[in-house]
Amino acid sequence: MKKTLFKLIAFVTVGVMLLGTLVGCGSKDTDGNGDSSAQTENALEKSDDSQSSSSRVDIGVVLPTKDEPRWVQDETRFKEALKDTDYYVEILFSQGSPAKEKENVEALLAKGIKVLIICPHDGSAAAAAAEAAKKEGVTVISYDRLITDTDAIDYYVTFDSVAVGMAQAQYLVDKASGSGNPLYLYAGAASDNNAFLFFEGAWKVLQPKIADGTFVIKNSSEAVALQDKEELTREEMSKIISQVTTNWDFNEAKSKAEAHLTAAKKEDKGDVFILAPNDGTARSIADVFAMDKDVTSYVITGQDAEKASIQYIIDGKQSMTVFKDVRTLVKDAIDMAINVLQDKTPETTGSYNNGEIDVKAKQTEVIVVDKENVKSVLIDSGYYDASEFTGIE
Ligand code: BGC
Repeated sequence: MKKTLFKLIAFVTVGVMLLGTLVGCGSKDTDGNGDSSAQTENALEKSDDSQSSSSRVDIGVVLPTKDEPRWVQDETRFKEALKDTDYYVEILFSQGSPAKEKENVEALLAKGIKVLIICPHDGSAAAAAAEAAKKEGVTVISYDRLITDTDAIDYYVTFDSVAVGMAQAQYLVDKASGSGNPLYLYAGAASDNNAFLFFEGAWKVLQPKIADGTFVIKNSSEAVALQDKEELTREEMSKIISQVTTNWDFNEAKSKAEAHLTAAKKEDKGDVFILAPNDGTARSIADVFAMDKDVTSYVITGQDAEKASIQYIIDGKQSMTVFKDVRTLVKDAIDMAINVLQDKTPETTGSYNNGEIDVKAKQTEVIVVDKENVKSVLIDSGYYDASEFTGIE
C-alpha cells in the first residue's frame, strides 16, 4: 500500500466556515431511530404525523452506536438541524454491527432514499452497504469516518483528524519538562480509519520528543521498536495500534490500563503522560491511573468534548479534550445532501484516498479545550449549558 494512502491529499481551505444555509429547502425530520425499541416509539410518534414510517424518506442517516455519547450527540444535532426543513430524513443506529448497518441501509433503500449519510462502524466492512446503495443510484456521503476499499462513495464530511492527534500530542509536549517522562500510548479501533489518522498526527509531534529523550514509552514494545522512525507506514502504525488499541471500548481501555500499570515498575510511573484517543476511553484510563499509588500525577488527552469529560476537566480528572463541533459536521452533511437532491454540486475542500479512490471531502477544524478555556469555548458559545455541570464559574 502506498505510504500516502488514506492521507489527506489536498485541502485548499482550512477553517472553512459553513457556507450556505438551508434557506428555502429545509428538511423534515421524520424522527427515525436506530434500535428496534426506538423504532417502535418512533412509529407511534409518526402516527401523529401525516407521514408514516413506511412513506417517503429522502435522506437516510446511519450512525454507529448509541453506546457512545459521541454518536448520541450527533443524533441530537441532526434532529436540531432538521427541525424546520422540508425533506424527510430517518436516522438509524447500527449498534456496532456491520450486519445491522447493512440491514439499516437496505431498510432505507426500501423507503426510496436518494442520499445516504453513513458513519461506518467498520470502515472496510461498510463497503458492502455503500455498494448496495450505489447500485440503487443513491449518493453516498461518508460521515466522520471514511468507508474504505470501495469506489461506492461520493463524498466525505469530516473533522481534521490528523490535527486532532497533533493537538493531543502537542498538549502532552507542552506540559512536559526535563527528560525521561513516562509515556503511555493508547489508540482507537483498527477498523476505524480515523484511529490511524489520529495516531499519525500524534506520532508526528511525539516522535521527535521521544527521540530527544523527553518521553520514554512504557507500554508498547512495538512503538519502542519503531521510535526512531519519523514517519510510519500504515502497516507500522497497525502494529502499534493493535498492541495499544482500546477498540473504542471503555472496558477494554480500563483493563488495558490496569494490565499496563500492573506490569510497570514503580520507576515507570511517577508523573506520567497519557495519549488517550477519545473522551470515553480517557475517563476509563484516567480512573485507573488515578487509583495507582505510584502515579503521582498524570496528564491525559481526549477528544469529543463529551459532557462527562467536561465535568472531568472541571474537576481536574482529565487534562484536555479536542472539541469537534458536531453542529458544523451535521450542517455540512445536510447541506451536501440537499445540494445533491437539488442537482447542485456540493462544495468540497479537498479529498481523501480510501484505498480505492480519492473521495471529495469537506473538512472542519477542531479546537483544544482544557480548564482554562472550557467556559468560553463550550458554555459562552451556547454549545452546552452551565447548569449541566458543577463547579463552573
Ligand atoms: C470519531 C471520534 C470518536 C471515535 C469513537 C472516531 O471515528 O471521530 O469522535 O470518539 O470514533 O467512537
